[in-house]
Amino acid sequence: MDLYEYQARDLFEKYGVPVLAGITATTPDEARAAAEQLGGTTVVKAQVKVGGRGKAGGVKVAKSPDEARAAADAILGMSIKGHQVGTVMIAAGARIAREFYFSVLLDRAQRSYLSLASVEGGMEIEQLAVERPEALARVEIDPLTGITPAKAAAIARAAGFPDELVERAVPVFTALYDVFTGEDATLVEVNPLVLTQEGDILALDGKVSLDENARFRHPEHRVLVDDSAANPLEIAAKAAGLNYVKLDGEVGIIGNGAGLVMSTLDVVAYAGENYGGVTAANFLDIGGGASAEVMAAGLDIILGDAQVRSVFVNVFGGITACDAVATGIVNALEILGESATKPLVVRLDGNNVEEGRRILADANHPLISIATTMDDGADIAARLASKVK
Ligand SMILES: Nc1ncnc2c1ncn2[C@@H]1O[C@H](COP(=O)(O)OP(=O)(O)OP(=O)(O)O)[C@@H](O)[C@H]1O
Ligand SMILES: [Mg+2]
Repeated sequence: MDLYEYQARDLFEKYGVPVLAGITATTPDEARAAAEQLGGTTVVKAQVKVGGRGKAGGVKVAKSPDEARAAADAILGMSIKGHQVGTVMIAAGARIAREFYFSVLLDRAQRSYLSLASVEGGMEIEQLAVERPEALARVEIDPLTGITPAKAAAIARAAGFPDELVERAVPVFTALYDVFTGEDATLVEVNPLVLTQEGDILALDGKVSLDENARFRHPEHRVLVDDSAANPLEIAAKAAGLNYVKLDGEVGIIGNGAGLVMSTLDVVAYAGENYGGVTAANFLDIGGGASAEVMAAGLDIILGDAQVRSVFVNVFGGITACDAVATGIVNALEILGESATKPLVVRLDGNNVEEGRRILADANHPLISIATTMDDGADIAARLASKVK
């Protein structure tokens, strides 16, 4: 999970990384008040989880609270690479003498950590890596020893920091490494890390990605999650422990297991070619369990997508046998009652399939069609989706 700059700034502060004051605002008036509180020159910065904000006009210097208000007015609502700006951070202004780059990240290929550093900060680091790779120091970090003061000094020297700054960079690098390990991050990046005219080293921008696999160790990370940009159905699915992905077609898809679900998308698209290009509207992986509750939650989410015209339930009975799945579907339709209005094509196979099909046939539900093969089910679902056009 990527964090916003202001969230990274707060974490940096907690670990003793030198940062400047920053206050978030969601309206121009709040921005004005924040600039007033900070005093002096401020910088109004778009809070979006994408790089290149400066170039896109999302970072503006303000000499007065009124200028900060005007800058926030211009930046709020702006779209930066498809990310809508809903929040700005008003940061105290630094008098920059030099801009550097520093990061520490998980290097999956090497099964290790890697630190990147350069005295040519500010610009896009990807560009620097391509155009002048020699200007970007790459120092492998042994996860068992981490960034010790000696290692930090070695990174600074490898990056070309002037001698008099090496010792000063050491506590900043070790504190950033503490953020990296303490928060279970996969990336901590500072671009730019600046030397001010007063001679201080400061992190002026921060990018932090947290490792979601370590979430169980960090209940405090819950508040960092930002649901505002996510699809409401995806949030509902996540809350129910289901994997739901929104697509752009007409057939809602429920399956168990990622492989089966992926191939179901393919057969629906293939069958859909005969019905004017019908494709999947979404898909939902119900995983191992297909109880009535899970099925009802899944169907509720799939049917909540207005683009869905028919639903294809494609389940292979393994640990959860087909009769349990069939009972789950029938009970789910009962739970949903009137709110289930779209035709449902069900294909079951595997463990206890006969019993499963019998349960569906006996239920004789007007919305359910039974398919015996996956291709057959895809064809019926695609046809039902096109008919309603
Ligand atoms: N608090 C500040 N005071 C003075 N100048 C700043 C401040 N924050 C940023 N800047 C200047 O603005 C430039 C761009 O800021 P920043 O690095 O935060 O955004 P960005 O690099 O465009 O965004 P991203 O890192 O998301 O690509 C910096 O390189 C720096 O020169
Ligand atoms: Mg930056």
